Amino acid sequence: SEPFSEKLRVPEALTFDDVLLRPKESRVEPDEADTATRVSTNVELNVPVLSAAMDTVTEGDMGIAMARHGGLGVLHRNMDVETMVEEIERIKRADELIIRDVVTASPDQTVREVDEMMDRRGVSGAPVVGDDDEVLGIISATDIRPYLEVGEEDLVSEAMTDEVVTAPEDVTAREALELMYEHKIERVPIVENGDRLIGLVTMQGILQRREYDQAARDDEGALVAGAAVGPFELDRARAADEAGVDVLFIDCAHAHNRNVIDSSREIEAEVDADVVVGNIGTREAAAEAVDFADGVKVGIGPGSICTTRIVTGAGMPQITAVSQVADVASQHDVPVIADGGIRYSGDAIKAIAAGADAVMLGSYFAGTDEAPGRVITMNGKKYKQYRGMGSVGAMNEGGGERYLKEEEEDEEFVPEGVEAATPYKGSVQSELHQLVGGMRSGMGYVGAETIPEFKDRSEFVRVSAAGQQESHPHDVMITDEAPNYSPDSN
Ligand code: XMP
Repeated sequence: SEPFSEKLRVPEALTFDDVLLRPKESRVEPDEADTATRVSTNVELNVPVLSAAMDTVTEGDMGIAMARHGGLGVLHRNMDVETMVEEIERIKRADELIIRDVVTASPDQTVREVDEMMDRRGVSGAPVVGDDDEVLGIISATDIRPYLEVGEEDLVSEAMTDEVVTAPEDVTAREALELMYEHKIERVPIVENGDRLIGLVTMQGILQRREYDQAARDDEGALVAGAAVGPFELDRARAADEAGVDVLFIDCAHAHNRNVIDSSREIEAEVDADVVVGNIGTREAAAEAVDFADGVKVGIGPGSICTTRIVTGAGMPQITAVSQVADVASQHDVPVIADGGIRYSGDAIKAIAAGADAVMLGSYFAGTDEAPGRVITMNGKKYKQYRGMGSVGAMNEGGGERYLKEEEEDEEFVPEGVEAATPYKGSVQSELHQLVGGMRSGMGYVGAETIPEFKDRSEFVRVSAAGQQESHPHDVMITDEAPNYSPDSN
């Protein structure tokens, strides 16, 4: 007779530590590897990396930093809709050639008033405009300097430069620089209908854009922005869309749910932004989602702060989950994002080999300056807070719908995440440098120059427990910390 019941004839599911990339003949040096990818049908990134939609990971500062370095930050939804709109606008405006929210002066202010205002707003010059926004002059710190002390109460109309060089809205960065060079100036007001102020181009802004030549930008040159919305938050979705978000992430712990799929479909039909649906972890869920979504996000319980698998008994090891979803999504040309469980750059590139187009990380970025929250010191070491969005703390602050069943009262939360601390890491730029550098080296070992080529060419080998132990440093005592390896993340 059969030793096992049918129920126990189960497939095996694998995760990061179960596999390694098989080395292949290569002509690709890591710094030649091109990491450009698509995060959703219409949005391209220069590095395949997203920061998680969590309230200890991504707000405006992280969004700006991620996009400047080629990736995408996804704003969390534990903030009210108005705040989310402001944060989206902050990202979209951060590196715009034309500043739209211009600090202006009026001709009948005093020099002292304008000096104080410029100080407060952090600018070193301002167009002077009349009642109908017509440009009358421009005033800068250099114009003001001779008036300080002796002429502070003089009017702006006295101190300003009244011959103003302006440009129309379609000016390019090159043309603006030429104007600045020719007239020895640092700012050019942008006008329409002759002299109506609608924006400002500054030398500082142009130079700053140059510094980020890898930045992920939209067609108009603004940084790309992402934001999470609940599956039933049509109002938030509309508001984020109007604010110019590029990618909306339907944020749900288990998106393969009839109500979630139906409602996500409605949201997708209402907005211009691309819509990524998640999280999912199976072929069947992928088949439903790719029917309308511009991208799918994979991860049922792999996250570092997740307790979903422990609390609910459900989940899907991440390498198998990603490859199952990618099998279906690739046939429909829909990008796949692998979300959660990534500790090292090697995990990130394995996720791509399994079929992801990009990866999303929470704990990896939570310790950086750009993540919300302050640095705390415990036993002489620096940390930042990191918590699951399904933890009691995050749910108490309102963001827990993702894991909350409707009837639950505050004290009856059944959390699916924990609250933790993660080592403080400094700027996100150096973390990204290590992450993407390791991924490029992985592409080198496989001999692939681009992400699509890498997805095609890469092969896995299965690793035993002994093999896994061999992979980590062993039989030595580590004396100096490496910037990209910590035994703690093990
Ligand atoms: P990492 O491993 O990068 O994972 O820290 C980040 C991802 O974890 C998910 N997430 C949660 N999953 N309970 C869960 O089961 C939670 O409380 C929770 N909070 C976040 C989410 O997909 C995130 O991107």
